[in-house]
Amino acid sequence: MFKKSPITEMLKTHISIDGADPSVVPIFQNSAFESTSPYFYTRKANPNSSEFESAMMALEGATNAVSVTTGMTAINLVLNEIKVGQHLVINKDIYGCSYKLFQRVAKKLNLDLTVLDLSKEEEISQIPIGCSMIVFETPTNPFLKTIDIKKVSLKAKQQNPDCLIVVDNTWATPLFQRPLDFGADVSLYSATKYFSGHSDVMGGVILTNNDLLAENLRQERFYSGAILSPFSAWLLRRSLQTLPLRMAAHYSVTVELCNFLKESKLIKKIYYPDIDGKQLTSYGGIIFFEFSDDLEDPYVKFRDGLNVFGTGTGMACVTSMVAQPYSGSHASMSEKEKEEMRVHKKLVRLCFGFEDVEDLKRDLSLALASLA
Ligand SMILES: Cc1ncc(COP(=O)(O)O)c(C=O)c1O
Repeated sequence: MFKKSPITEMLKTHISIDGADPSVVPIFQNSAFESTSPYFYTRKANPNSSEFESAMMALEGATNAVSVTTGMTAINLVLNEIKVGQHLVINKDIYGCSYKLFQRVAKKLNLDLTVLDLSKEEEISQIPIGCSMIVFETPTNPFLKTIDIKKVSLKAKQQNPDCLIVVDNTWATPLFQRPLDFGADVSLYSATKYFSGHSDVMGGVILTNNDLLAENLRQERFYSGAILSPFSAWLLRRSLQTLPLRMAAHYSVTVELCNFLKESKLIKKIYYPDIDGKQLTSYGGIIFFEFSDDLEDPYVKFRDGLNVFGTGTGMACVTSMVAQPYSGSHASMSEKEKEEMRVHKKLVRLCFGFEDVEDLKRDLSLALASLA
């Protein structure tokens, strides 16, 4: 025997089904199990959610995975670990709905909520003493800034060893970044994005090596009824098998299209993450760009000029998408909050899928030309 790569381990079937020995796990579309079954009741566990979780653990190198209905559920479940009056730190650049959720929970539990730009070393040093939980994405949504997980973890745990470091790793995926290896306690995902890859299923998953925390999360999932449904788990497990191929394709098409967009005088800045080869080893297909200052309100005209790109809320999938964070992913934030985050109307998100790359270039060229 030899030590296999996480991808090889992920691909194999993890749970066995007595007697039938199918090559892949079929859908267990049932709510109830016999009293002798370890699954008990689908609100507690189901072979499909367990199979998806095992595949995720293999990919992430984690000892626990807890699968839930959506990415927001994953964040919500982890937030349940914070108690009344404790101190929560979040990063400044973060998905708009997460930002709103942190504010709502902070209000309800009377938490101290501190917002820091953790991509800056001087702000890492401002992590307050006694802080109980720190939540951030890296690369961040928007702007794809890098946060040094190890530095944040060292600083926080030096002051409070029990501080939970929570990384939303949705945009990096475990193929390109493994937060637990850098001192995070939790690595969580919206499985709706790359893990699905086809805009046809919602899901979330939480990975941790902390067994006690995992048990709490499972209990919380059981009592709140937040478990991933068997069909969603089956679809996600199936899609996971092509994740490495899809991510490699996202990477190459995105590099090519970023180089192409760089040539446009109508674009002021393209945001692409810093692939340092240590914490982040590669990247997928979501980028941002800013239109140049002299264009007045160009987004709608640009979007309407595109023919190949879809405009739905989907991203990280097989088809290309265009979106404006101001009116989309960050719409739930107030004008003031958006201004503080620099989410303005000239910021555009592009997700590159697998259409013919020359068609994508032609489409972008024509839409940009319509603005000139
Ligand atoms: C980084 C990030 N985390 C979490 C979420 C929420 O995930 P879901 O839509 O599956 O609830 C999103 C959704 O866009 C996201 O971009």
